[in-house]
Amino acid sequence: MPRPYRDDPDWWKDATVYQIYPRSFRDCDGDGVGDIPGIVSKLDYLADLGIGVIWLSPVYASPMEDNGYDISDYRDIAPEFGTLADIDRLIAEAEKRGIGIVMDLVVNHTSDRHAWFEAARSSRDDPKRDYYVWRDPAPDGGPPNGLRSYFGGPAWKRDEVTGQYYLHLFAAGQPDLNWQNPVLRAEIHAMMNWWLDRGIAGFRMDVIDLIGKDPDREILNNGPRLHDYIREMHRETLAGRNVLTVGETWEATPEMGLLFSGRDRHELSMVFQFRHVTSFWGEAGKWDPKPFDLVTFKRALDDWQRALASDGWNSLFLSNHDLPRAVSKYGDDTRYWRESATLLATVNHLMRGTPYVYQGEEIGMTNAGFTEIGQYRDVETLGLYAERMAAGDDPAGFLRGAAANGRDNARTPVQWTAGPNAGFTTGTPWIGVNANHVAINAEAQIGDDASVLAHYRKLIALRKTHPVIVDGDYRPFLEDDPQLFVFARNLAGTQLVVVANFSGEPAAFETPSELEIAGECLISNHVPRDAVSGTMRLAPWEAFAVLAST
Ligand code: GLC
Repeated sequence: MPRPYRDDPDWWKDATVYQIYPRSFRDCDGDGVGDIPGIVSKLDYLADLGIGVIWLSPVYASPMEDNGYDISDYRDIAPEFGTLADIDRLIAEAEKRGIGIVMDLVVNHTSDRHAWFEAARSSRDDPKRDYYVWRDPAPDGGPPNGLRSYFGGPAWKRDEVTGQYYLHLFAAGQPDLNWQNPVLRAEIHAMMNWWLDRGIAGFRMDVIDLIGKDPDREILNNGPRLHDYIREMHRETLAGRNVLTVGETWEATPEMGLLFSGRDRHELSMVFQFRHVTSFWGEAGKWDPKPFDLVTFKRALDDWQRALASDGWNSLFLSNHDLPRAVSKYGDDTRYWRESATLLATVNHLMRGTPYVYQGEEIGMTNAGFTEIGQYRDVETLGLYAERMAAGDDPAGFLRGAAANGRDNARTPVQWTAGPNAGFTTGTPWIGVNANHVAINAEAQIGDDASVLAHYRKLIALRKTHPVIVDGDYRPFLEDDPQLFVFARNLAGTQLVVVANFSGEPAAFETPSELEIAGECLISNHVPRDAVSGTMRLAPWEAFAVLAST
């Protein structure tokens, strides 16, 4: 099969992306950590699911303080994951199945074990000193200013060798790169080209909206030269190559989304926006979750749909390696597990944009269910726990927040079978396997037409056969309804109507006149429906889509 990304510059609009967090995907050598051969062993499963792209979370050489988001060598692979030969094989084997590999580009920071940082910290005069952000101490000897790390504590660490502080917006082992330095930028471009020449299909760009930071003015996201850097990167690496690029931009507004992804901007294919996620974080951030409400959720997504209606492009995702499991967060992972997992998939895949599936989501994996701090592995959770406990906070309250929103919820091993360690490893897994793997696992769902997996397979296939899903415009209905999520997609004489009852209660849906149609049921997680009309009684978590000519 030819590479999907060779001919059409917009090929990624038709594709479905599958995210792999390699550490937890599949372990082939029994060390309890997933690896690249493990990914190769599951390519047929992924091809069968129908995905066109794999976004691989980092597999580069790393001391793994943040599970690979702390890179010590951009041009080598961590031994626990494999070798460069393994990645070449993965690229080639994926390509045979029509799947492109998108690498994670983590260039806001490196590891403190990167040779650049080791040189930079050795003396104030080192030629690489300026690759990072160094400042003198404040007059009292403390950090230069009050910037805080996302993982707890100050964002500055004093380095004994030279007596200056360096900036780390994440862990102390993740020093921030200084993008104001043109030599550093050229190094990054060369590294990107080295990977692109290896045949990858693009990059997911880690916290890319931080690279324009101005730490002295405490400006982090959306700094003054952010778009200059991205356009320069495009010119130097991406231009003329038909690749997918997706930027992680926690603070982006819909207007910024258009700047990043607009047709003539020459920046990125799309970004991940997080408003539908952070709307449910409280005063103290994600550790203090707010109750879900559908109207806020729809408004966040609809605003992005509207802003990128005729230019720019959306990414569509409900979960990733930093977020809780979608079915646990937005659905009901006990009583209506199957119904709510399939409803969420239906809504997510049928909006306008490129859908992303996070590993295990396609079989309805749920949150980890950890109850003790000793079960967590994540540097963020452990760092903030230490900080909060030192401040005298209540451990039970913190653990409640972590159980709801901690990143390890999405990092338990993929549940392949009902057997020992869910078929993930023959060794001891690096993080606990969810006990519910005896019921929720891929093996039990393969071949079952009513499974969550079958529902994902169907949605992914529909995208390839119905242009209205890719190219149709998007129009929301009943925007203030707290129970129903309803939208229509229209393209050249076809209308697709999507109706979802986002709740565990039955619902009455009064069809708005514009949505009255009779046609074909494209997908449903309850009884098939081939018309939308009159007053419809919906079952709890029922979702369906009807396609008709207009
Ligand atoms: C991004 C990654 C996250 C990582 C952080 C620092 O948010 O998704 O996993 O910890 O950046 O690289």
